Amino acid sequence: MFQIKARDGLGKIGKLEINGKTIETPTIMPVIHPDPDKQLVPMETVKKLADVVITNSYIIYSKPELREIAEKKGVHKLIGFDKVVVTDSGSFQLSVYGSIDVKPLEIVEFQEKIGVDVGTILDIPTPPYADRERAEKEMEETIRRGRESLELKRENNYKMLLNGTIQGSTYMDLRRRCAEIMGSMNFDIYPIGAVVPLLEKYDYKTLVDVILNSKMGLPTNKPVHLFGCGHPTLFAISVLLGCDLFDSAAYALYAKDDRYLTENGTYYLEDLKDLKQFPCSCPVCSEYSPREVYNMDKKEKEKVLAEHNLYVTFEEMSRVKEAIREGALWELVELRCRSHPRLLEAYRQALKYVEFIEKFDPVTKKSGFFYSGYESLFRPEVIRHKERIHRIRFEKIYITTVSKDVEKPYSENLKILPSDVDILVKDDVFGLIPLNIDLIYPLLQSEVPELYDIEKSHNKKFVKEFIERYKDRIMDIVTYNYYISYYNSKENKKKINSDIIKIDRMLQYQYGFKILDEEVIKRIIVRRSKRTGWIRNVLIVKDGEKKVLFTLRSYDNFLIPTAEGAKLLHSKIPYPKYRVVVDRSVERFAREGRSVYAKFVVDCDRDLRPYEEVLVVNEDDELLGYGTTILNGRELMEFNYGVAVDMRGGISDKEQ
Ligand code: GUN
Ligand code: ZN
Repeated sequence: MFQIKARDGLGKIGKLEINGKTIETPTIMPVIHPDPDKQLVPMETVKKLADVVITNSYIIYSKPELREIAEKKGVHKLIGFDKVVVTDSGSFQLSVYGSIDVKPLEIVEFQEKIGVDVGTILDIPTPPYADRERAEKEMEETIRRGRESLELKRENNYKMLLNGTIQGSTYMDLRRRCAEIMGSMNFDIYPIGAVVPLLEKYDYKTLVDVILNSKMGLPTNKPVHLFGCGHPTLFAISVLLGCDLFDSAAYALYAKDDRYLTENGTYYLEDLKDLKQFPCSCPVCSEYSPREVYNMDKKEKEKVLAEHNLYVTFEEMSRVKEAIREGALWELVELRCRSHPRLLEAYRQALKYVEFIEKFDPVTKKSGFFYSGYESLFRPEVIRHKERIHRIRFEKIYITTVSKDVEKPYSENLKILPSDVDILVKDDVFGLIPLNIDLIYPLLQSEVPELYDIEKSHNKKFVKEFIERYKDRIMDIVTYNYYISYYNSKENKKKINSDIIKIDRMLQYQYGFKILDEEVIKRIIVRRSKRTGWIRNVLIVKDGEKKVLFTLRSYDNFLIPTAEGAKLLHSKIPYPKYRVVVDRSVERFAREGRSVYAKFVVDCDRDLRPYEEVLVVNEDDELLGYGTTILNGRELMEFNYGVAVDMRGGISDKEQ
């Protein structure tokens, strides 16, 4: 019931189906007070912005007048919201008051009874830095309650979905263990609990540890809710790290404290009162000046501030979603993290987990890679290049530097590209860029400012290790111009076309295997666009006919196969690499080029990354079709809903 539509980092645009109602994630659930008299922002405004809200079932349970309405008419009528209603269980009250007056299963039963769409178990939020013994004991109790709550739900065929909260305080092994155990129990949504004290202390670095260790243990096919996080400055980074749902009491709590939220931080109204206008154009900020709001009576002021706070909260979430669609979420996070040193520290902490994150990060993005500071050197796009460069079977290597006045792509602008050697250019960000592949994302599609010396020295170690590893194949380490004059003087003019070598290296980089052998190379034609002069198509001569194998996609220069190209890849890449194996029952649909659904995936290359071009095969490795996978290797095995491979085409059985 959860599927991925677009993604960046661990972040994703998801579609979550809840009781026949569909919501798009990431999203924010405004916290609604179940007593309408205590609700700061009118439900009319909430309805305009939110598809899902969260309220507290324990408050309803404990107040006879609210409980009566909820039991008679349901929670939707009680709060006046007919879309998705999530409830918390009283755990938060438990963490504040030490005890509450309801039994764990009783509150789960109550949530179902009042018609909640997603209920929550009565987990125990152990605060950060508690004794390890306490953290472990309370985590075990949370797991026990989780198990019993799920049994209750199963036995009684509950309609509502259930939140299984991850606890474990600040012990990362406990967070991971809790996530693994709860994760194996088939909850519908996994909230990460007890992070509010971390938020209050601006301890975002530990928040990052808690999120990522929980994510590592959790299944990939369930959405994650960051419980109690409603401040817009944290949305970009939390979504980047894989959180899908947020709840905000912050919009109202900050308003009561005369505070004005923005995506870059919080301001006291006191400090804004002399501004001519608010730095926002939401309905309330367009209507009132800061001074007018400042002079309002307390109740009205709270209401106006809460409304603004809610607008910016949703506005930032829209921005985050747009960034995911554009493949620019890392850029947005890097921007947001400049607004507070604690946020920058959190981002730096997140980058320590880059190896884990990289597995989920798309191999290609519509937006280019923007360098915004030293941290950018540790991004997955960079780390992946430094891994994948070794996919190319270099024979003769020259390592060079190119003078600053030459623009990218060097391979086109330097004109002379010898065909029988690989020239690798030292690069401040990517370490080494082989000229034969320098058109491919992110090597060409990156914007980097002039760097400080300290940043430039970052890749020295990588280059040194590369030289050590390939020392028997490195011919020389020179400047490009010196190399060219030396090369030309050798009169080493081979007949072979350097464009074909480019394609050969690009295919190796993209797929990890040598696709063009000597036999194939003889029959290859590389076509350039007459208009732009750029490489556009790769063709093969077969039975006297020219057939297109690959097209270079304009925004990333990935080689996109045709049916003919897919057949070539299939014959050259050993099983199970670049394969998605589907069940017999959908073979026919795959051969027609129809989408492959995750439910029918029986095996795959576990190293696949999102947005790779893959081969769809049956269990005998017969080629059925080819397309782009939306999921990575692990997700392909774990997801049971939604599209797994966006098909480009099918291969009929006669064609094989
Ligand atoms: N609200 C904020 N933190 C928590 C938590 O850890 N558990 C529950 N159930 N609700 C919360
Ligand atoms: Zn506003």
